[in-house]
Amino acid sequence: MQIGIDKIGFYTPSLYLDLVDLAHARNEEPDKYLIGIGQEKQAVIPATQDIVTMGASAADQILTEEDKKDISTVIVATESGVDNSKAAAIYVKQLLGLDNFVRTVELKEACYSGTAAIQFARGLVNLNDKEKVLVITADIARYGIGTPGEVTQGGGAIAMLISVNPRVLAIENQSVSYTDDIMDFWRPLYRSEALVDGKYSTNVYIDFFNKCWNRYSEITDRSFDDFSALIFHLPFTKMGKKALDSVMEKEPENIANHFGTQLKFSQQLSRQVGNLYTGSLYMSFLSLLQFNSELVAGNRIGLFSYGSGAEGEFYSGILQNEYGDVIDFENIETMLNNRTKVSVADYETIFNSQIGYTSTDVVLDTSNDKSKYVLSGQKDQQRQ
Ligand code: HMG
Repeated sequence: MQIGIDKIGFYTPSLYLDLVDLAHARNEEPDKYLIGIGQEKQAVIPATQDIVTMGASAADQILTEEDKKDISTVIVATESGVDNSKAAAIYVKQLLGLDNFVRTVELKEACYSGTAAIQFARGLVNLNDKEKVLVITADIARYGIGTPGEVTQGGGAIAMLISVNPRVLAIENQSVSYTDDIMDFWRPLYRSEALVDGKYSTNVYIDFFNKCWNRYSEITDRSFDDFSALIFHLPFTKMGKKALDSVMEKEPENIANHFGTQLKFSQQLSRQVGNLYTGSLYMSFLSLLQFNSELVAGNRIGLFSYGSGAEGEFYSGILQNEYGDVIDFENIETMLNNRTKVSVADYETIFNSQIGYTSTDVVLDTSNDKSKYVLSGQKDQQRQ
């Protein structure tokens, strides 16, 4: 029985920051951001959007009324939770109008938990092949104004429907996960911005990728020849290049060039949006499919998922025949082309206007946010 991604959709808000503007404001060479980090634009998340509204918007793009009847479970993977107790999946389920006879839960392990959600979903579908599981990865990447991480911020959501006979990617059974207790990036309960040991985090990422890949190739006896593309969690696009370079050093030039080209396809969306945390790997996947028109059904794609703290997983999937019909690439292009650029000063104001940790009532001005789902404020300590 094949199980995997049957549908996939993406949402990011309508505002962006041009990183050349940010470089000027921070007295940095624009090429440091454009080439050294590998980012051009960054999604700016208005106060009227959070992981619930963005997750619902991503899911809304892929679900028919028929799909909604078949969903047995909703999993929201995030590290930008809006409540320490109640699962964001309950709010999403309600906004989407799903039946009450549904299971809902939220998962956390930094940027990695989207992959855990997919693996758990495969398990549920394997137990009962009638089940369809809605997996939502949604996050807002925040490091703080003027910090080295600022250029790697971003945000948005990816929604995936996991089922039997998937039309996009059939996930293969063999995967390798690796976990160690590491303080490379974390966010204590009292903070809305992450703390990070930036350079250390990039080294841990590369180390975990090598550990997962080496073990995977040992267990499966597969080499890079067995793959059409390798895609990565992209906190910033240069990170994917660093990881790929670390394993391509010993490979012949033609292989290194091939995977380098595939990596470029997979980096396109990330360059425009920034880090989605849990959704970044799946945005790389969408980007690969959108920009590489030569991929065909049967191609094997390798996926490396990484979450700080830290956990990595390498797994693979086989591309399916109907992926081009199922994914609405035009919608993604239109969404990104229609975004409005904001100045650095406006971005800073927006950055500081999130509801954050307050118990008082807040009324947000939603007149500029044309999204289907918006956060209108907080009343009696409940988000509206
Ligand atoms: P930094 O100290 O500002 O940057 O921090 P730098 O000085 O290291 O420069 C960056 C690169 O730009 C360097 O290239 C420079 O040479 C180059 P590299 O050596 O890395 O190849 N450069 C230039 N290139 C062209 N023209 C120029 C120029 N000037 C310099 N003029 C850092 C960079 C990534 C550390 C920082 O942005 C940061 O802390 N980011 C956040 C942490 C992060 O994203 N870590 C990634 C791994 S951890 C992860 O993926 C998990 C995560 O997603 C969270 C989660 O799991 O929840 C983050």
